[in-house]
Amino acid sequence: MPEFFEPRDRATLVSGVRVIDIAADVDRSADVLLAPGRITLDPRAADVPDDALRIDGAGLWALPGLIDLQVHFRQPGFEHKEDIASGSRAALAGGVTTVVVMPNTKPTLDTAEAVAFQGAEAQRVHGVRVLVAAAATEGIAGKRLTDHAALQGAGAVAVTDDGYPLSDDALMRASLEQCAKLDLLFMQHAEDMSLSHGEPMTRGATSEALGVSGQPADAEGAMVERDVALVGETGARYHVLHLSTARSLRAVRAAKAKGLAVTCEASPHHLLLTDEACAGGDTHFKMNPPLRSEADRQVLLAGIADRSIDAVATDHAPHSAEEKARGFREAPFGVIGLETAFAALLSLVEQGVIDDRRAAELMTAGPAHVLRRADLGSIARPGSVADLCLVDPARRFTVSEQTLFGRSKNSAFLGREMPGRVVATFVDGRLRYRV
Ligand code: DOR
Repeated sequence: MPEFFEPRDRATLVSGVRVIDIAADVDRSADVLLAPGRITLDPRAADVPDDALRIDGAGLWALPGLIDLQVHFRQPGFEHKEDIASGSRAALAGGVTTVVVMPNTKPTLDTAEAVAFQGAEAQRVHGVRVLVAAAATEGIAGKRLTDHAALQGAGAVAVTDDGYPLSDDALMRASLEQCAKLDLLFMQHAEDMSLSHGEPMTRGATSEALGVSGQPADAEGAMVERDVALVGETGARYHVLHLSTARSLRAVRAAKAKGLAVTCEASPHHLLLTDEACAGGDTHFKMNPPLRSEADRQVLLAGIADRSIDAVATDHAPHSAEEKARGFREAPFGVIGLETAFAALLSLVEQGVIDDRRAAELMTAGPAHVLRRADLGSIARPGSVADLCLVDPARRFTVSEQTLFGRSKNSAFLGREMPGRVVATFVDGRLRYRV
């Protein structure tokens, strides 16, 4: 039975485990000793406390604690969907020890106080590491820029109007100029709303069959292209959230080729599903950006394999069953993802799209690089945090309410069998979750 633990000071020795640490170029069998604030590969016997918990690591993988660049924990304002404590349990069950939380709470995370609260609350409830992407504009209303310096001073690692793009050209330029000056990351939900009109799915054969007026896939790429031009002029660090189309990836590749500080992430649902899943009108397949065509999906798969996509992030977006029961047009956009993200990547390993090392990289070294955080995404690099997850690659599971630990159960993968179960998660050297 899966169990969650409050942080305790007892050490753990995992013996004979395959350590996959791409950032430190380590992929070998080792013993791993975890103790409060410390992680040691191949410790001396004398350094292992007598009362250490011992886990046989044969057949398991030890990965640096996974990083999810896009998560909605809904606190404050929407705690009936999720809060920092319940979201942290979902994260721990998925092996995720660092999350970047999005600012579309109520009130939005647009002040230094609101940013500081997130970290403080995460500590109070013994949650995972919570990093904040603060609002780029006041109230995420797209009208007046927030005080980016003050938000960064309170701990924000990025600004974004997630849920919405920063559409206004002049405002976007001004935000990027500030980001460049502060070395602050801008994260964009890329959607040209004058093209998408907020329609609930991608325009195509399935939307026509359903009688729904869909949004053109080009709404995303058009915005990425505009942004990349502004990044070229301002020199800011810019990251595309949940990138989902071929046109967007073409723009990112071109920007990278020019040497611009442009990165992007893809989400598991866009890698495993297409808009055909919406045919039955099931709102567990409604999210924004919406599911795309098979042609777009294939381009994303090529992008995670050839490294033009830097990271996989879930866009964990909890909504209550009642909200999701409102029908395809009315139900809110969004699906959860923390508990299933790494298993989704292992599905792609099974399908031969990527290998197991690349799967690990996409949620460790990859996102750490996007954040420019040398202390995250590795265990063997000097100065690394002592966060770890153990994965049993041979253990399959079927996604169900029993494998989902957040407050909301709106997964696009309910009922799906997945390979590779996270069997233990450690934060700061302490065991916090075990199956
Ligand atoms: O599907 C989504 N849900 N996309 C977003 O951009 C926002 C998110 C949410 O907050 O529910």
